[in-house]
Amino acid sequence: MGIIKQPENPRDANQLTRAYMDSILVEPRYLGSCTPDISMELFGKRFSSPIMIAAFSHLSGTHTGGMPEMARGAKLAGICNWAGMGDEKELSDILATGAETIKIVKPYANREAVFDMLEFAKRSGALAVGMDIDHSFDVRGKPDVVLGLEMKPVSEEELADFVRATDLPFIVKGVLSEADAEKCARAGVRGILLSHHHGIMPYAIPPLMALPKIRAAIGNQMEIYVDCGIETGCDAFKALAMGAKAVCVGRSILPSLKENGAQGVKEYVDNMADELRGMMARTASRDLAHIAGDLLWDASTGKKIVL
Ligand SMILES: Cc1cc2nc3c(=O)[nH]c(=O)nc-3n(C[C@H](O)[C@H](O)[C@H](O)COP(=O)(O)O)c2cc1C
Repeated sequence: MGIIKQPENPRDANQLTRAYMDSILVEPRYLGSCTPDISMELFGKRFSSPIMIAAFSHLSGTHTGGMPEMARGAKLAGICNWAGMGDEKELSDILATGAETIKIVKPYANREAVFDMLEFAKRSGALAVGMDIDHSFDVRGKPDVVLGLEMKPVSEEELADFVRATDLPFIVKGVLSEADAEKCARAGVRGILLSHHHGIMPYAIPPLMALPKIRAAIGNQMEIYVDCGIETGCDAFKALAMGAKAVCVGRSILPSLKENGAQGVKEYVDNMADELRGMMARTASRDLAHIAGDLLWDASTGKKIVL
């Protein structure tokens, strides 16, 4: 049909992801609809919506209050917060805000540091822990070094060791293939975040494009979350209608944090939640468990997306 603009740079996974997101259309259903309940339960906690704050790091240089201020915004909005790379002090400050937080630990070559951080997160009251497996390499395929700390790829056996090391739910961030998803399921992982880490790899498949095959491969063994390019309630709705349990909002929320701190974060999230509620109302989706699996159309073929 050719109604969707193609990415200017098809190497750029962020542009590919935006183009794919915009190529998904939604079928309205009004009869029998109602104002939906968009609240979500995750690991025994109830949240106001399935919108979550992405696993950020290094915000203190650019955003006053940094990650704890972001966490305050998540708490104000009643949503789940994720935290990326950072030391024990920063995680303590984040958790002191009262925001339910999922701590993502990097695949440090120093595995003792990984186990220590998993243990610290548990002791400090994190909701869940996990690892961004997509951050082991730099662009040349060499071990990545972040702030002087070297990374190392993770084997299925090591992943299982990390999972066993904690009694918190363990999440893997950066899954985009059935192969990795199946390894995660075998290792005892509770949930996977489909993500290309805002374009860490050229030509990386958009998370929503990968989702149906991954869901088919793992069934209901693990929950699936999505990030990358989730900027609006409509984006969130499409991910949920594709079968994601929840989504993380990334870079698009940063200007709100910068301009208005926690209140700005809350307002951005509330706007997304309103838009999500509107999309659910107009598709007769009365709550998150009742979003039909046949609402989405592919604009490029003019056909329904079959899940
Ligand atoms: C400033 C910044 C810092 C980030 N730090 C981490 C991190 O430490 N660990 C991690 O897993 N992801 C990190 N991410 C990636 C996000 O969690 C998320 O995957 C990505 O931003 C989603 O894409 P989007 O920005 O297009 O929404 C970071 C992203 C940004 C913008």
